Amino acid sequence: MINRVAIFVSGGGSNMKALVADMQGNHPARVCVVVSNNEDAGGIAWARAQGIATEVVDHRPYGDDRASFEAELTTALNRHGPDMICLAGFMRVLTAGFVTPWHGKMINIHPSLLPKYKGLHTHARALNAGDKIHGCTVHEVTALLDDGPILGQSKIDVVRGDTPDTLATRILVQEHKLYPAVLRRYCVGITSVLHL
Ligand code: GRF
Repeated sequence: MINRVAIFVSGGGSNMKALVADMQGNHPARVCVVVSNNEDAGGIAWARAQGIATEVVDHRPYGDDRASFEAELTTALNRHGPDMICLAGFMRVLTAGFVTPWHGKMINIHPSLLPKYKGLHTHARALNAGDKIHGCTVHEVTALLDDGPILGQSKIDVVRGDTPDTLATRILVQEHKLYPAVLRRYCVGITSVLHL
């Protein structure tokens, strides 16, 4: 059975592109929709240009009413019958109400070696801490932010002169290898930690 994958983006979507590029041939999954909270997300324009279905649910009209935002997100998502969700730079925190029904079927990529540096500004925080090793993590999504079982990690050396930007650039290269590799395994039920 081919897994139908929904990819959630808020920005340029370079991880989304890496996932889509990998989902070909004998891959056990195919993208069925790209979802965003941001109509102007570069990832949405790219997906449309590829002929991939898209859905945009702007979070702003909902203010603090996350439940209503997530209900609309669910309605949009369900139009495409996804089997699983890949968060790829989706910049809204999803509550338990949304996450719980997708337990075991939603994964995320985060630019740090979790459990270190959950949340934002991971590269600056790694530099400030004097870390010599940094990296990225793919993990299952739970209702706790950047928590959930780790499925894969990739490490890089932090070198003299590194800045948040240089780290982000080098780690993104690793992200684009790690995320597709983890997705391939996850689709066939492999949840042991992949080290790339
Ligand atoms: C990546 O660094 C990812 O780890 C984080 O958000 C960024 C998204 O980048 N969750 P892109 O939109 O995939 O280029």
